Amino acid sequence: MGEPIREIAGLTIQGMDLHGRGWAKYNNKTVLVETALPGEVVDVNVYRKAKGELLARPTAIHKFSPERVEPTCKHFGVCGGCKWQNVSYSSQLKFKTQFVEKAFKQLEHLGLPTFRSIVPSENLLHYRNKMDYGFTGRRWLTKEEMADGPVTEGLTGLGQHPSGAFDKILHLDECFLLEEPGNTLRLAVKQFADKQGISFYDQRNRTGYLRQLIIRNSSLGEWMIILMIGNADATDAKKVLDFIETTFPQVKSLFYVINDDLNDSIFGKELVHYKAQQYINERLGDVGFRVGPLSFFQTNHAQAIKLYDVAAELADLKPTDTVYDLYTGTGSIALYIASRVKHVTGIELIPEAIADAWDNARRNEITNVHFIAADMKDVIRKDYFKNMPKPDLLITDPPRAGMHPKVVDALLEAEIPRIVYVSCNPVTQATDLLGLSKKYRITAVQPVDMFPQTYHVENVVSLELI
Ligand SMILES: C[S@@+](CC[C@H](N)C(=O)[O-])C[C@H]1O[C@@H](n2cnc3c(N)ncnc32)[C@H](O)[C@@H]1O
Repeated sequence: MGEPIREIAGLTIQGMDLHGRGWAKYNNKTVLVETALPGEVVDVNVYRKAKGELLARPTAIHKFSPERVEPTCKHFGVCGGCKWQNVSYSSQLKFKTQFVEKAFKQLEHLGLPTFRSIVPSENLLHYRNKMDYGFTGRRWLTKEEMADGPVTEGLTGLGQHPSGAFDKILHLDECFLLEEPGNTLRLAVKQFADKQGISFYDQRNRTGYLRQLIIRNSSLGEWMIILMIGNADATDAKKVLDFIETTFPQVKSLFYVINDDLNDSIFGKELVHYKAQQYINERLGDVGFRVGPLSFFQTNHAQAIKLYDVAAELADLKPTDTVYDLYTGTGSIALYIASRVKHVTGIELIPEAIADAWDNARRNEITNVHFIAADMKDVIRKDYFKNMPKPDLLITDPPRAGMHPKVVDALLEAEIPRIVYVSCNPVTQATDLLGLSKKYRITAVQPVDMFPQTYHVENVVSLELI
């Protein structure tokens, strides 16, 4: 075993990998370089070896790509969010299209239609309606901060994971993902907690109190706060929430959640409604939604409407259609299209989201919908549709992992005439489409950009029974 490779000079970046990193070859190894763009010549520092690949960050750039732009945020390059802020938006769209093309290579033999050009995002910054920020008692320190010796003061932080370090938190002075007062609120909460001497969580030792600040908002200007704390004594959480309520009148819904587990998820934890509404109001087209703390809602509101319009267009909705909306979340797609079809059944794992979906249907006086809370693979089984009114159309929008193979098998058996597959991960979508290709032909492929400044891409595909 030789010395581990630490520095490599003069690497030429040859392309982008599926995680938005520039890749290059060195001694028959693939080097994945964060923030580096194709065509650039860089010196790098290798910080990890994973699955035979070298993960690296640039230390010097000798040749710059014309696609490179000045990032907006001062935390770019350290923060794990917004990894493409240094890429021009037109090039972001080009790379996202190439991702879909690359992921769909395995389907080429099926005779794919020409891909439609990607739908760009209306907003390039401040486009998210939900952010999870982590508290830390020992924030991530940059090289510049450590240059003058050990830092012993001002170690609390509230922010995001640094790139590639999920057990650490980088304090953010600014973040351009939520609209205002998102940034002001986050900074004010940290300042308040510091002044009050409330302890911040220590990820390594699992000690400390304030753990996460989850901020959600809606296009109607309503905000929700969910404060995650490390133990069951809510006295200090209430102080923080009272401060937020009195300082930010747009906050209409306040929760705290007690979590002394290893993971940061709010699911399966004790979630307490503290004050004001139990939800925030949102609107998509003509439909009003109540969004609760556990409900999934598309994070880029302006693009959600575009995404649903694309799905509806590719679905070729008819007033006689009996439709299934798999992975329905709060029933958003189902309710958005209900007025244009005969009936929609939405199915979703999270019972709270389904309760919201029913509530949303009632409040919008939409009566031609039905919602089921269950794991998809337990409902959509091989014989499920035999005892149901025959569906004309199925819309599916699974999480990143794609559909369970049993669900794909059940759909093949059901022989539904039209399927529209909405996905946030074209790689798993392509695998599912390969399974469905035994009986389906792909008729349209439409990428949509929901997440500017990141490598993520949404992709909508329509299928027709052969
Ligand atoms: C990408 S979201 C789509 C939500 C919805 N279609 C929308 O546009 O808002 C995926 C949804 O799948 C749900 N989900 C994840 N795993 C599931 C499973 N095994 N069975 C049913 N639903 C699941 C999640 O809770 C989430 O609401």
